[in-house]
Amino acid sequence: MVDKRKGTFIVFEGIDGTGKSTQIDRLADVLRLLGHEVIETREPTEGIYGRQIRALYQNRHMVSVDEELDLFIKDRRDHIDNLIIPSLAAAKIVLCDRYYLSTAAYQGAAGCNPDEIIARHDFAPEPDLAIIIEVDPRTCITRITEKRGDLLNDFEQLESLKKVDSIFKQMDLPYIERIDGSASEEQVHQQVVRLIDRLLPHLTLSDTPEPL
Ligand code: TYD
Repeated sequence: MVDKRKGTFIVFEGIDGTGKSTQIDRLADVLRLLGHEVIETREPTEGIYGRQIRALYQNRHMVSVDEELDLFIKDRRDHIDNLIIPSLAAAKIVLCDRYYLSTAAYQGAAGCNPDEIIARHDFAPEPDLAIIIEVDPRTCITRITEKRGDLLNDFEQLESLKKVDSIFKQMDLPYIERIDGSASEEQVHQQVVRLIDRLLPHLTLSDTPEPL
């Protein structure tokens, strides 16, 4: 499907436990308050391939790294065709929790070449902005285990998270912006708002009244 973009495509990236989904929810609230149509979405999706990926969380070694990479790419193709491109064509603001930079970082950490992974995404619309939220991997692990009470899944072990983090740090693409996710939720939100203000100055987000 051809990308006839009228909307805006913003993706959030970072290792597990950086607070992406909280920040996406807060940004979506502000944008909706200003009257914009916002689509909040995430990868892996709830589609057939996304469900297969979730089944792998508990035991990654059920498939090879290449098969795992193929699953993430198939999931993304469906997501792009069924939701991302139609939403952008309808002038909506799409906020996506993880996109192909996650594949480059995570499957890169698992042994694939991150640049080749990005090159395999020539079918995928480029984001207008990719916000990488940076938090020290140890802090992320503490957040995941203590605050969420979650058991770590196979994608989230400390050593592999450190590798993923270092690949995210090496990425250098014109649409990437980095923010410090170790600050308070409110401070991180303000950093996000500043980036969106720069991307979409006509929205004047920083003037938004507090919700009642
Ligand atoms: P996550 O954002 O934690 O999803 P959920 O909150 O629905 O569980 O993503 C799940 C895991 O999948 C996460 O550890 C990162 C990993 N992942 C990849 O390895 N490659 C990818 O391309 C994507 C999108 C995610």
